[in-house]
Amino acid sequence: MTGTLMTSAVTADLVITGGTIVTHETTIRAALAIRDGVIVAIGDEESMPAAKETLNADGMYLLPGAIDVHVHFRDPGYTHKETWETGTAAAAMGGVTTVFDMPNTNPPTGTLEALQQKLALADQQAYVDFGIYGLLGAENIDELQDLAEDGIIGFKCFMGNTFGNLPAPSTGAMLEAFERVAPTGLRVSLHAETASVMAWRYERLRAAGRNDPLAHIAARPAVVAIEAVSRAAILSEWTGTRVHVLHVSSADELRPLREAKQRGVDITCETCPHYLLLNTDDYDRLGSLIRVNPPVREATDSAAIWDGIRDGTVDMIATDHAPHTPEEKCNDNIWKADCGFPGVETQMPLMLTSVNNGQISIHDYVRLTAVSPARAWGLYPRKGALIPGSDADIAIVDMARKTTIRESELHSTSARISPYNGWEVTGLPIHTLVRGRFVMRDRQLVTEARGHGRTVKPLQKMPPARVTNADKTLAAELAKAPAKGRNEL
Ligand code: NCD
Ligand code: ZN
Ligand code: ZN
Repeated sequence: MTGTLMTSAVTADLVITGGTIVTHETTIRAALAIRDGVIVAIGDEESMPAAKETLNADGMYLLPGAIDVHVHFRDPGYTHKETWETGTAAAAMGGVTTVFDMPNTNPPTGTLEALQQKLALADQQAYVDFGIYGLLGAENIDELQDLAEDGIIGFKCFMGNTFGNLPAPSTGAMLEAFERVAPTGLRVSLHAETASVMAWRYERLRAAGRNDPLAHIAARPAVVAIEAVSRAAILSEWTGTRVHVLHVSSADELRPLREAKQRGVDITCETCPHYLLLNTDDYDRLGSLIRVNPPVREATDSAAIWDGIRDGTVDMIATDHAPHTPEEKCNDNIWKADCGFPGVETQMPLMLTSVNNGQISIHDYVRLTAVSPARAWGLYPRKGALIPGSDADIAIVDMARKTTIRESELHSTSARISPYNGWEVTGLPIHTLVRGRFVMRDRQLVTEARGHGRTVKPLQKMPPARVTNADKTLAAELAKAPAKGRNEL
């Protein structure tokens, strides 16, 4: 590359030389300069501004740091599993520079008070930037507006039971909630599994004495996801509420997703490494460790999701980082094992190994982990891009570096258990920068950077919400009710 893209003639805090910058479209051999946490120049090394510090990244790739839109950091309420400190340390070690934290903490993030409490904890401890999801449920329907105005990244709706046992709203409550959220333009992320089907099947299986690992799939067959995704897409299209389908686990869910996208519904979806890399063949080996909602399914499901990734149906890869202690995970009775396992630290090495194996290109990887999440939540191009003016959130990776994943080395120190324990991977983040500051350097956590993380909110650059059927909302109909006279009260 010749010439320099530079916002202004400045002195830099850090210049990174010798590396290759990767975007979702191209690779550029170029140096990159950072000042005040922002990328200020990309170009030939000779054209870089004077810098306080230089990092030699010879032979390495500079990727936009991963944005993991689905983590459970358990703080407040379940800090024996994970805290903001350990969760974001794991993120930093995994090349993840922004995380979105789920509301199934205790208290759940369904009120302004709970939101403020979580923001304070995260602010103190976080190594990386973070968005906070607000809960969308029947109980807190009157709080949604306040939450929307007060700093959440989006909403999360549990359509089915999972860890925390937050009750699933009825379809009626969901519709009213969607009507209220639509004008805010915020996206609603969905745990899309239908509660009533799962409760029915669980009771029947348990009564019949099934408690083996595969019984977990029997209680939550793919039809519960297909039904929930379809229903959510209908409510999204009717109201104009943006939605995001979390943890896509089955081939058949892709059908309603593709159809909704074709109809112009603003619906995005993610899958997780475990739905790509594990399948029913792993249940014997892993036992109750593999228990996760939705369940890991057949090899044919994984193959279909890989296809969905390549054809653009699947927009992004998140981890559903769901730490529990080894004691909570391991049980001979599958119903007694907690659901989920840590993932934020292992996503990048696992998926870069898939890049090395030719499953996806490195550009696909950047699209799936940085560009698409940033776009879907209105953060692009401040996040998710390596261009002048963007936050210097960078994962500097060595694509040839081999290592073995060891659960005993995970930074989620209370949840050192992983289905990938002992796996050999090729491709590893070596340094992680969040707004220009090293949070991992030479594979070491930079402990002084604790508390560097800041909250992120959607930028005004999101296209305005496209509200539909506004004349048919419950609020519109209630406004037509006659004012009650004194005598009727
Ligand atoms: C998650 C958890 O533990 O919080 N567990 C899981 O199995 N995925 C909850 C969730 O994402 O459903
Ligand atoms: Zn979930
Ligand atoms: Zn989750």
